[in-house]
Amino acid sequence: MFHDIPSKILARMAFLEEEDARDRKKVISKLKRLRQIPPESGKFLALTASSAPPGKMIEIGTSAAYSTLWLSLAAKERAQKIDTFEVLIEKYNLALETVKVTETYDYIRVNFGNAMDLLKPFEEVAFCFLDAEKEDYKEFYNLIIPKMVKGGIFLADNVISHYKDVKPMLDIALQDPRVDALIVPIGKGILMCRVT
Ligand SMILES: C[S@@+](CC[C@H](N)C(=O)[O-])C[C@H]1O[C@@H](n2cnc3c(N)ncnc32)[C@H](O)[C@@H]1O
Repeated sequence: MFHDIPSKILARMAFLEEEDARDRKKVISKLKRLRQIPPESGKFLALTASSAPPGKMIEIGTSAAYSTLWLSLAAKERAQKIDTFEVLIEKYNLALETVKVTETYDYIRVNFGNAMDLLKPFEEVAFCFLDAEKEDYKEFYNLIIPKMVKGGIFLADNVISHYKDVKPMLDIALQDPRVDALIVPIGKGILMCRVT
């Protein structure tokens, strides 16, 4: 999966990594920043998503679709699309541009709107990556876990960097008999849950 990443994807990843690094040096509003995962988290996402059981792949919080590009590698292996959700029009447009320049239409579907509403009809979810506003994590966890298939993988980013903000979700997930869960100290800290 990592040995034959198409050059157009590698080029867009490098461009977005530079943009994200530039953002972090400037004082700009949270709404404008890309707020991307680091590359090692991207690899972790792709490896876990490619090992998930059959079922839908979703991502909550697209930004410019950097993490989605990593997940598209797993989607390609699984011969399916990942549905990713973005509520801000500027980010949605950046994500569409990412899909266009990387020619990943066959593996990525970018959905515009509040994922809390758009995900209500989704079922049979095999893989979910949550990377939206941290105060919404508990509500998203409660929405998504009942929609997941047995053996499905739920990942949530920033659980070490934003521990206090995501604690309400962690307090549930780490005790939840519906999942086996642990915190993986990669990147900004990823909660990993496998549905039992
Ligand atoms: C941390 S950034 C995502 C970064 C992206 N996963 C990456 O690593 O490239 C969070 C994104 O989630 C979006 N977002 C926040 N709440 C949302 C919601 N309820 N539905 C859809 N998107 C949401 C924000 O607008 C923002 O672009």
